[in-house]
Amino acid sequence: MFVTTSGLMSFAVLLSGVFALHAATKEGDFGKLPDGRAAHIYTLVNKGGVEARITDYGGIVVSLKTPDKRGAMADIVLGFDSLDGYLKNPGPYFGALIGRYANRIGQAKFVLDGKTYNVPKNDGANSLHGGTQGFDKRLWTAKMLPDGGLELTYVSKDGEEGYPGTLTAIVVYHLTDANELRIDYTATSDKDTVVNLTNHSYFNLKGAGSGDILGHIVTINADRYTPVDSGLIPTGELRSVTGTPFDFQKATAIGARIEQADEQLKLGKGYDHNWVLKRKGDGLEVAARVEEPSSGRVLEVLTMQPGLQFYTGNFLDGTIKGKGNLVYAHRTGFAMETQHYPDSPNKPAFPSVVLKPGQSYKTTTVYRFSVVK
Ligand code: GLA
Repeated sequence: MFVTTSGLMSFAVLLSGVFALHAATKEGDFGKLPDGRAAHIYTLVNKGGVEARITDYGGIVVSLKTPDKRGAMADIVLGFDSLDGYLKNPGPYFGALIGRYANRIGQAKFVLDGKTYNVPKNDGANSLHGGTQGFDKRLWTAKMLPDGGLELTYVSKDGEEGYPGTLTAIVVYHLTDANELRIDYTATSDKDTVVNLTNHSYFNLKGAGSGDILGHIVTINADRYTPVDSGLIPTGELRSVTGTPFDFQKATAIGARIEQADEQLKLGKGYDHNWVLKRKGDGLEVAARVEEPSSGRVLEVLTMQPGLQFYTGNFLDGTIKGKGNLVYAHRTGFAMETQHYPDSPNKPAFPSVVLKPGQSYKTTTVYRFSVVK
C-alpha cells in the first residue's frame, strides 16, 4: 500500500492524541528485589513530550526529561538505570518518596500522648528519613489512573520502624500538559502518629551528570530558617536570613556564598537546612524558583507545606556512578524537599505533625518546568 507523507503525519498526530489521553503510557519491568518481588517502571508523558519515569520501588522518580531553551531534551534528575543501582546506593535517597517522617528526629525518639517512641538511629544519634527501612525502600502498590496519573499506595504497619499506628499512604504523580510534575500525598492512620512525607529528587537543570549546580540561581520565599546543631537537628530558633548566606529572597547563585565562613554552612557542609516559608494561607504557593542560565531551564517549587529543605548535594563525593555511567561528584545535584520542619515531633513550638484517626493528611507539591531564553 502506498502511504503519503501527510497520511503518515496524520497517523502520527492521531497516535500522539491517543497517548496524550493516556499519559501514563506504559508499565515495564525494573528488576527484582532480593526477596524475589518484581519492581516496575511507569512512563508518564505529556503533550509537549516531557517524560517522567517512576518506579513502584520507593516511588522513585527515576528520570525526568524536559526541554532547554533550544528545545533539546535532557534528563534533569539524578538516579540509576536499574533497580540494582538504587538497592546498592540507598544513601542519597535519589528521587524517592520519604516517610513516615522525612528528615531528622533528634535522639531518634519522641513523645506522643505521653508515651515515648524509639525510632531507628540511622544518622548518628538521630533518625533520618523514616529509619532503616523507610518508605523509600518499600515496594508500593501501583495503579495507572484513567487520567494518566500514577497512584502509589503503601500501608505501613503499626509499629513499623517504631512508629505507632497503621498508616495508609497514597501518593499520586501526574505529569500535566503545563509541564508540571504534580505530587498529591494523602495519609490516614488508625492511631495517633506523626507523619511528614516528601520527595527527595536531586535536580541538575543542565542535565544529570553535567557538572555542579553552583551556577544555578535560586530564590526562596522565606525570611527565616531553622539553624541546626552538629547533628543537623534544629535548635528551635527561627532565625532571620537577613545578612546571612541563607538569604535567597533575591535570586542568588547557589555557589555565591556557599564557602563563606558561616557556622551554619560549616555544620551543613553547605546548604542542608530548612527554610520557614512565607505563606499566605494553606494552599499551593510558590516556595522557590531555580534558574540555570546556560540551559535556560527554570524549576518552580509549589507547596502547601510550611518548610522547604534545600540540600546542595554536599554528601555526594564522586563515588557514585549514575545513569549512563556518569559520575555524581560533589554538589552536582540539589534537592528541594517540601515538608514540615525537621524534628517537629520534639519541638512543640513548630507546626504539628500529629495525625489522628479520622483525620486525613493531604498535601500537594508541584515541580513546574519552563525556560527563559
Ligand atoms: C537530606 C538530608 C541530608 C542528607 C540527604 C541524603 O536532604 O537533610 O543531610 O541526609 O537527605 O543524603
